[in-house]
Amino acid sequence: MTLVLGIESSCDETAAALVDGERRILAQAIASQEAEHAPYGGVVPEIAARAHAERLVPLIETVLAEAGKSLADCDAIAATAGPGLIGGVMVGLVTGKALAMAEDKPLLAINHLEGHALSPRLADASLEFPYALLLVSGGHCQILRVDGVGRFRRLATTIDDALGEAFDKTAKILGLGYPGGPQVEKLALEGDPKAVPLPRPLVGSGEPHFSFAGLKSAVLRAHESGEHSDADIAASFQQAAVDCLIDRLKIALDTMGDVNALVVAGGVAANSVIRAALEQLAAGRQLAFTAPPQKLCTDNAAMIAWAGVERLAVGIPPDPLDFSARPRWPLDPEAEPARGAGVKA
Ligand code: KG4
Ligand code: ZN
Repeated sequence: MTLVLGIESSCDETAAALVDGERRILAQAIASQEAEHAPYGGVVPEIAARAHAERLVPLIETVLAEAGKSLADCDAIAATAGPGLIGGVMVGLVTGKALAMAEDKPLLAINHLEGHALSPRLADASLEFPYALLLVSGGHCQILRVDGVGRFRRLATTIDDALGEAFDKTAKILGLGYPGGPQVEKLALEGDPKAVPLPRPLVGSGEPHFSFAGLKSAVLRAHESGEHSDADIAASFQQAAVDCLIDRLKIALDTMGDVNALVVAGGVAANSVIRAALEQLAAGRQLAFTAPPQKLCTDNAAMIAWAGVERLAVGIPPDPLDFSARPRWPLDPEAEPARGAGVKA
């Protein structure tokens, strides 16, 4: 039975997990840095890197002890090697390299986005390639066709902000805490999604790309006008986001060819209003819909270990110990940059 240790440290969660070839998560541990970053309203890279360095090794010891396993029992060490905040990525990757070297185990340098993209298969054994994937997190907003392990076609990306970022900024404008997504969702329950007129950037355009910067600015103006309740702003913002996602996905699904399912992954996939809208879209097209459970949606190490299990299963060779951490690492290297795209992947 394959057993892989996964390490995640690309943003503000330090995480370790042990996952086997039967989709069992033997143990997992996550240390969130929310409290450290909260005063700044966003992740501070230097604080993140230091926190990962303090916490990662004890977390690895914890999951090994919980599962009653040792490093010698593992078939490989899978560590996130990018994309993400480079200081944090280096802490995790170098730790993975050290363990691999000390125990003479293969190192698997995992693309964090591939972790998100394959996580639905960890939760759902019946999910077969190819599938359409909406990847929505704090750093990414993409539509991909997933043909297999390491085989992705990107149809859309954001030309400015990621959707999770837009949720976080909306939360900041409304004076809610960080991370903002869950708090905006909660406040939106008390508001009217039609109360505040907000734009749907790029809706109707031929290519399925996303843009959220204008929506965020409109939220700021609506808040400053003093004409709307915070709950109405939150609900209207969330509705605008849903409308953008659905419009863009329809175009992508029309052009990507046959797929088995529509899948959503990434931190924003935890949003139940977004999930419900996607489920309805999939049902209308006779597509299966799947979203990993919340614990697997936000950053975690089980998805990194699972990506490692998948790589081993298809015979992808291990990575060399001089593998460099990558701040940017697109899943589809052939994808054309979206027009107007800034620095974000
Ligand atoms: O995947 P993730 O944990 O980290 C990244 O790789 O970015 O995603 C975090 C993002 C944050 O922007 C957070 O606000 C958002 O996911 N998020 C949500 C919800 N839960 C987390 N956004 C909307 N609704 C939620 N319930
Ligand atoms: Zn992530």
